[in-house]
Amino acid sequence: MNIVLVQSKEKSIDIEIVVVKNLKDLKKSISKKLVTLGFSINSSEPLFLDNVVYVGVLKLKGEDLKIALSSVVQKIAKMKFEKIYINLTQSKKELTLKDIVEGTVLGSYIFDKYKSKTSAKNTKELILNIDISKSKHTQNDLVQELEQRLSIVNSVNMVRDFVNTTPEDFYPDTFAKNAQRIAKENNLECKIYGEDYLEKNGMNAMNAVGRASRHESKLIHLTYKPKKPSKGKIVIVGKGLTYDCCGLSLKSTGGLSMKCDKSGGCAVLGILNALSTLNYEYEVHGIIGAVENMIGGDAYKPDDVLVAKNGKTIEVRNTDAEGRLVLADCLCYAQDEIKDIDYIFDMATLTGACIVGLGEYTTGVMGHSEKFKKKLLTASKSSGELVGFLPSNRYLLNKMNSKVADITNSSSSRSGGAITASIFLDNFIKKENKKKWLHLDIAGAAYREESWGYNPYGGTGAGVRLILDFISQIKK
Ligand code: BES
Ligand code: ZN
Ligand code: ZN
Repeated sequence: MNIVLVQSKEKSIDIEIVVVKNLKDLKKSISKKLVTLGFSINSSEPLFLDNVVYVGVLKLKGEDLKIALSSVVQKIAKMKFEKIYINLTQSKKELTLKDIVEGTVLGSYIFDKYKSKTSAKNTKELILNIDISKSKHTQNDLVQELEQRLSIVNSVNMVRDFVNTTPEDFYPDTFAKNAQRIAKENNLECKIYGEDYLEKNGMNAMNAVGRASRHESKLIHLTYKPKKPSKGKIVIVGKGLTYDCCGLSLKSTGGLSMKCDKSGGCAVLGILNALSTLNYEYEVHGIIGAVENMIGGDAYKPDDVLVAKNGKTIEVRNTDAEGRLVLADCLCYAQDEIKDIDYIFDMATLTGACIVGLGEYTTGVMGHSEKFKKKLLTASKSSGELVGFLPSNRYLLNKMNSKVADITNSSSSRSGGAITASIFLDNFIKKENKKKWLHLDIAGAAYREESWGYNPYGGTGAGVRLILDFISQIKK
């Protein structure tokens, strides 16, 4: 999808999009016809009439608008139109470029890498013309805004591509190569470490998880430094399990689809990819634990005791609770290497329990600071990414106790699995960073085998817009 801003309606357009919040805003003859054809503002089902496609919305902004536009572009994608036109002002209200760009570009995403014949490639590129002539903003502002919005959605779509790519084609070294490319294109610092480094630096928890894989584990550290003096430091640690077969604690159901288990790490790449265009004034560190969890003669086992980077000993009771082991060492690495952190996130497809608790579409958020959570909630509302907060308590703390080591990697009970996972991670957060840390469990939101709203089947790019909105909104 190509988007261009124009000063007035071009002659060569094929079709125009009209968003309808109130049928009274349309000419009587048209609204009459639409009603006859079954049009309703309560449904985002688009309706074609002459050279116009009408779509109903309850609100001319936010998720309502994005979902409506997404259903329009999805419908049009299968048709032979090339140039679609939309007026920035609809029903006397100026729409935001953010909503238009997210609805259309995120909504028209297609992943056809593995199709031998791609219907998508036969369709010509869609061009969305936006008439800005009546805008209250200057042309320059709108041009810059469009560039930034495109940078964000293109990063989200890049993350979706990564997540959807098979474990055969996307393994820890693929993570590293993409990180290097993104760093080069965006002027970022990029450090990549292999298993030698993990061993030398006591990152035994992370190292154990990747031991049975034919792919070397990689620790990736990307840094964005703002041009202006930095206002502070933000760290984002991502779980990058390019495949999680469960390890020796194999599920009785056998092999499972778990290419999505790299979604947290991929989101880190997406965030770092967008930053240089956005000119944010915070220093941002992205850290990815890129590992494959496999079985074999060298696999780590239930019963093993691992010593993490901070010296804590972990009794392995379930090799399928591998993400937290990788994150434990990555969190230690981040806090050892980066001083004076203002905010530290970890993002991971960590537990099935999070999906059970909050439903498929909501990211579970856990942490000690109510203030920090409130700020993230603001970013959730503005980005449209759903979050739900899961509370810990003193009794749950005991669930991660071990008789043989300092802690275990798997709770003694199945209940509250998303929360007990965050209690495990809390063991690797330094005292001074307790209130600066939030854990985001994106197990549900990052990948679905169904399309929802403007999210496609498969990878969604969850976390990218949420964190970018958070960074754009924080005031110290
Ligand atoms: N990667 C999974 C969690 C997951 C489940 C992600 C569903 C996406 C969709 C994680 O490594 C895992 O297996 N977690 C276990 C933890 C348990 C053994 C304590 C789980 O959720 O069952
Ligand atoms: Zn697992
Ligand atoms: Zn996993």
